[in-house]
Amino acid sequence: MSQNDWERRNAYVKERFAREDDTLRHVRQQTAAHGMPQISLEPNEAKLLQLLVRLSGARRVIEIGALAGYSGICIARALPADGQLITIEVSSLHAKVARAHFEYAGLAQKVTVRHGAGMDVLPKLAVDAPYDLMFIDADKGNYHNYLAWAADHLRLGGAVVADNAFWGGNIFNPQTEDDQAMVAFNRRLAEHPQFDSTIIEVGDGIALGVKIG
Ligand SMILES: C[S@@+](CC[C@H](N)C(=O)[O-])C[C@H]1O[C@@H](n2cnc3c(N)ncnc32)[C@H](O)[C@@H]1O
Repeated sequence: MSQNDWERRNAYVKERFAREDDTLRHVRQQTAAHGMPQISLEPNEAKLLQLLVRLSGARRVIEIGALAGYSGICIARALPADGQLITIEVSSLHAKVARAHFEYAGLAQKVTVRHGAGMDVLPKLAVDAPYDLMFIDADKGNYHNYLAWAADHLRLGGAVVADNAFWGGNIFNPQTEDDQAMVAFNRRLAEHPQFDSTIIEVGDGIALGVKIG
């Protein structure tokens, strides 16, 4: 498939199935306005994530990397009324902006923003395991540790979802530590005896593993 064909298909899906509403447009605009990195999920990726949450029937979800709350809004929208998203964010500015956006989206009662690094906060969440779904979208060097945590703390049939599986194409010619980390993460997920897994070719690649053992 040519690049042109890929872009046409992507635009077709985005236009028909993943149009941003006013809330998501506002969050994307505010991300830029706050001078934050504009690395929220693309609409097609976010829509897929939303559907994975719905499809899995998840009630309790953990996210690593809130940024301004864009993906978190999509997750929370797919949760039932008594569902809970805990999103972990290391930057105090990002955590504050994300909290404001969950409020703006009318989802504050479903979302808790935990300020801190994923590897520091996760041990505190272990006591409330098992969780239904974990979305990994920060800190490439620890993706393999987040996967190990998911293997131990997701329920059977729960799902681990991770963004940037293709890492901008760098997995095909890894140079940096983060490139190597993503190659290692993909290999580990593919070979993990507790997960049935694949990479969905949307955006930068969404890795998906369903816990089977
Ligand atoms: C790619 S962005 C997340 C985008 C967000 N999931 C979305 O699509 O709207 C990564 C975020 O993770 C945060 N981050 C980086 N390292 C982290 C860590 N070790 N633990 C938690 N958050 C981290 C960054 O500050 C940034 O806000």
